[in-house]
Order: sequence, then C-alpha cells, then structure tokens
Amino acid sequence: MLDNKKILLCVTGGIAVYKAVALVSKLSQAGADVRVMMTESAMEFVTPLSFQAMSRNDVYFDTFDEKDSQVIAHIDLADWADLVIVAPATANVIGKLANGIADNMVTTTLLATTAEVWIAPAMNVHMYENKAVVRNIARLHEDGYRFIEPSEGFLACGYVGKGRLEEPEKIVALVQERFQSKRAHLPLSGKKVVITAGPTRERIDPVRYVSNFSTGKMGYAMAEAAAALGADTVLISGPVGLPKPAGVRVIDIESAAEMFEAVKSEYDDAYMVVKSAAVADYRPKEIHPQKMKKQSGDSNIELERTVDILKTLGEMKADQLLVGFAAETQHAVEYGKGKLESKNLDYIIVNDVTDPDAGFGKDTNVVTLLSKNGLHQPFQAMPKKELATLLLETIIREESDTIHDR
Ligand code: CTP
Repeated sequence: MLDNKKILLCVTGGIAVYKAVALVSKLSQAGADVRVMMTESAMEFVTPLSFQAMSRNDVYFDTFDEKDSQVIAHIDLADWADLVIVAPATANVIGKLANGIADNMVTTTLLATTAEVWIAPAMNVHMYENKAVVRNIARLHEDGYRFIEPSEGFLACGYVGKGRLEEPEKIVALVQERFQSKRAHLPLSGKKVVITAGPTRERIDPVRYVSNFSTGKMGYAMAEAAAALGADTVLISGPVGLPKPAGVRVIDIESAAEMFEAVKSEYDDAYMVVKSAAVADYRPKEIHPQKMKKQSGDSNIELERTVDILKTLGEMKADQLLVGFAAETQHAVEYGKGKLESKNLDYIIVNDVTDPDAGFGKDTNVVTLLSKNGLHQPFQAMPKKELATLLLETIIREESDTIHDR
C-alpha cells in the first residue's frame, strides 16, 4: 500500500518512544521506505539500534555526523521525504517548531523540509492543555502543519486523559489514506496502464542470442510518468540494466513469445497499452540445446517470424487505448502512419532513430505523436522523462476532448 513512499520519522523524547518503534515496523511492512531521526532525549528511552533494525536504515541524531560526504544529511533527508511525521512530539519540539527554533537535527530538518509534516503529540494531559502548548499548536495549524490528535486513556504519569500517542495502526491507516486520496485526483488514477520496454532476446543456443540495441530508457520513462499520473502501472520489461521505477509492477521477460504471453494476460482490464519495446521480428527457428561448436567454413541461422504483438492486440481490441512506437531510419512520419493504420492503433509515437538527439541508449528523444483522429504533434528534443510525461498528458487531453465531443 505504501510501496516506495519515503517517510521520515522524527522521534522526540517521551515515554511513547517505544510506540514509535512499532510505527516504523508497521510502515516498513506496508512497503514504505522509512528513515528515522532522533533527539537526544528520545535516545534516553530507546536506542537508535531498535529503529535501525526496524527500518533497515541508518538512524540520524547528530547534525554534525555526516555519513555521506557528498550531501548535507539534514537537508538531504528534508528533500528526500514525501512525508515527515513527528511521533511522539513533545511539548518542547512543538514549542520550538512554532517559534522557528532549529537547535538539533530534528528541528533543523523540520525547518528545512518542504514536504508535508504531521505532528503526533504525546504528553501529560495538563501539559497538553497548557496555554502555551495550545497556542503553539494553534500557530502550527495556521502554518499548515497537520496534527494527529493524541487519544484519551491511561497516561504513563498516572493520569487519565488526553495525551496518549495515537496507536501506530491508526497512524499507518491515516498515512495510507493520505497517499490514496492524493492519487485520487490524478488523471490516470484508477486506470491500468501496461507498458512494454527494452529489447527482447531470441536464443540461438544456451550462450548466444539475437537482439537489438534498445536500452529500455524510453519505456521506463513512460512507466514512471504513468505512475506519477496516478495509473496502476504494469511494466513488462525485456533485459535492461535500469533500476525498477517506483510504484510500478514489473514483469521481467526475455523473448518476444514471453512478452506476448505477459501482455495478453494483462490486456483485458487495461485502459491503455503502450508498446515501447523493441520486439525482435525474427527468432532462430531452432534453439540448440547445447552450445553450437564452430565448424570450418561459414554458417547460417534460419530465422522465423515472431508474432507481431501490437498487431495482434489491435485485432483483439475491445476499448483499450493502443499506443505504439515506430522506430524508423527514413520517411519516419509516413511509415509511422502506415503502422498506425495497419496495427489498428489509437496513437503512434514516431521517432527517427538517426536523429542525433534520438534513438537507442540516448537520454533524449525527438518524436512526433500521431493519432487515428488526425493529431500530428511534433515534440522537440528533450529528456525522455520529460517527454514521456508530455506524451501521456497530450493523450489524456485528446481523450477527454474526444469524450466531450461525443
Ligand atoms: N512490435 C510488436 N511486436 C513485434 C514487432 C513490433 O509489438 N513483433 C511493436 C513495437 O513494440 C512498436 C511497434 O510494433 O510499438 C512498431 O515497431 P517497429 O519495430 O517500429 O516496427 P515493425 O512493426 O516491427 O515494422 P518494421 O520492422 O518493418 O519497421
């Protein structure tokens, strides 16, 4: 549920620190990447080792202990986080934050972050009702901080009242809700987008194969962009050396036949399929079970056609949007149009791979987006990641215009 969400937990000194250990455990189990930062007082209750073991990450407490010389840790963590939670938050940290005081790693990071900050107070009921604390909380509310109200019950100090740190399960549920509702407003939210990327490998024998120069960069950029636009994204990937994009379900395949099976199994409930992969058009007719030994004289490998996955999807099409790519070395737009029609596509992204800013392995691309409704939109050279977002946004806009026109 919280896959790849980056959460910074700031732990300040109160008896409820032990509950923060459970919170880290539950957030990590839900898939979040959790980093923990502690104040000195927090370390009087629980050692950093407990948090390190639960989060499987280093724990930060000393502003001047720079673990990585390439970055300034408190700024780096402040920038890294999608969400910052202060739990338990003492009256002291609330007072400091309300007054812009930065005198330790936690308070310095809290001032430096632009991420959303949630504060989960825990303290004695009379401290919580103290006018200064009430004033500080009100000011932080005004400044845009969100509070996870403490619950009522037995307090460690012997009182019964409001001041208990909210239960970790409840905090995790609130975090999950927050990430879901953020996604609900995105244009591809609730829609499944299937993207293929990279080359396929067609085996000759156990040590050799036929393939192409595709690195998967464009397809991976499309998957990242689709996920960022809220889609439930499935990336069907040939062998590439790229890290798996955050928030994307990846299915690794090797050959065109395996890609075909994977795409078919994801097709029925897909809203959109984007075929960025450079699928081999031919494969060796026979895969030798043993390594082929060299012979005197020349050799031939007999090739047979692989299935044209995109064309088959076009034939099977219900109401999925089909987006193809066309890699051309000449007459790019003309050939692209031909593929758009012959494969029954909704869109095709055409690129002339001979352009110095385009093609395999490059970080930039230059393309033209064509649609079956006559759209002809060139995009100038730009980074593949930026381009991927623009392409998907253009398609989303075209589709909403089409629905409007109906
Ligand atoms: N494609 C596919 N299955 C294949 C070959 C291509 O799904 N066996 C898809 C690609 O993923 C791409 C589109 O078809 O989205 C166009 O691929 P491209 O290599 O440009 O064209 P081909 O159709 O293979 O035609 P040609 O090689 O003759 O240019």
